[in-house]
Amino acid sequence: MGPLIFITRKIPEPGMELLGRKCKIRLWDKDKPVPAQTLREKAKGVEGILCLLTDKIDRAVMRAAGPKLKVISTMAVGFDNIDVAEATARGIFVGNTPGVLTEATADLTWAVMLALARRIAQGDRMMRGEKFTGWSPTLLLGADFSGRIIGVVGMGRIGQAVARRARGFGMKIIYHDTRRLAPSDEHELGARYVALRELIRVSDFITLHCPLTRETWHLIGSKELAMMKPGAYLLNVARGPVVDEKALVKALREKKIAGAGLDVYEHEPRLAPGLAKLDNALLAPHLGSASFETRNKMAGMAAQNLLLGLAGKIPAWCVNPEAKNHRDS
Ligand code: GLV
Repeated sequence: MGPLIFITRKIPEPGMELLGRKCKIRLWDKDKPVPAQTLREKAKGVEGILCLLTDKIDRAVMRAAGPKLKVISTMAVGFDNIDVAEATARGIFVGNTPGVLTEATADLTWAVMLALARRIAQGDRMMRGEKFTGWSPTLLLGADFSGRIIGVVGMGRIGQAVARRARGFGMKIIYHDTRRLAPSDEHELGARYVALRELIRVSDFITLHCPLTRETWHLIGSKELAMMKPGAYLLNVARGPVVDEKALVKALREKKIAGAGLDVYEHEPRLAPGLAKLDNALLAPHLGSASFETRNKMAGMAAQNLLLGLAGKIPAWCVNPEAKNHRDS
């Protein structure tokens, strides 16, 4: 029959199929996030949990699962929803899905950036509202990309993929990260390292690709928004709380910056009051990795991570391999 696992929501077929062959599955089969209380109940006695970024996997869930729990595998690259320190202390491996979603997420970043600066969504609303009365020399004017400065915050896999695309648009690339790239990588990307303050002050497009941590929470708040150029755009395809959304609404409303393109929200899926009314905001419903091929790969990878953890092995993509020491001790 295989080990008992809990899958917090039906994932794409490659993942379901692999796990169905090897495990006894407990599944939350509704197409919405499992409520916290139900999550704890369903976790009882399982050896593995396959979760999504919408599930908060905290101490209470791990305690409810009990001592058999060996592995938590999330079908996402970000793992800020999981208390990794608690998992490590309990000898529970945490797996994630980096790499396979890099290109899709960079594509989505550019889709949002282009649509925002060239006002595609506004145009679409105009067409559907039958408000288009014909070509005009001043209709929905936006910004150019060529020759402008893009500031990438978080130059990991996704940040680099966004920067590579920026080269094709003829942009100047600057970046900030807690770790500087090797000179050869900087050279290849054509990217110059700068302090965060300088990046915020000089960029025409600021694009966020850092993980959500204690250090990056509200990295962009009212002070940083006030430092941006009045004609600059902010893109957040990372995690909502990296931006103080209330401060962003104020800056957009007062036209302190040109616009913001968001794929993630501070209190997802809720929006900060007033955000939905602003024409200088482009809002996507957390679609970063949402292509058929990418989601299939993520599901397969998350399933493989889970199976390895169930077998007592370190998952191939593991954020806390040191959990092994706590398991053995
Ligand atoms: C998506 O946001 C992910 O972390 O995979």
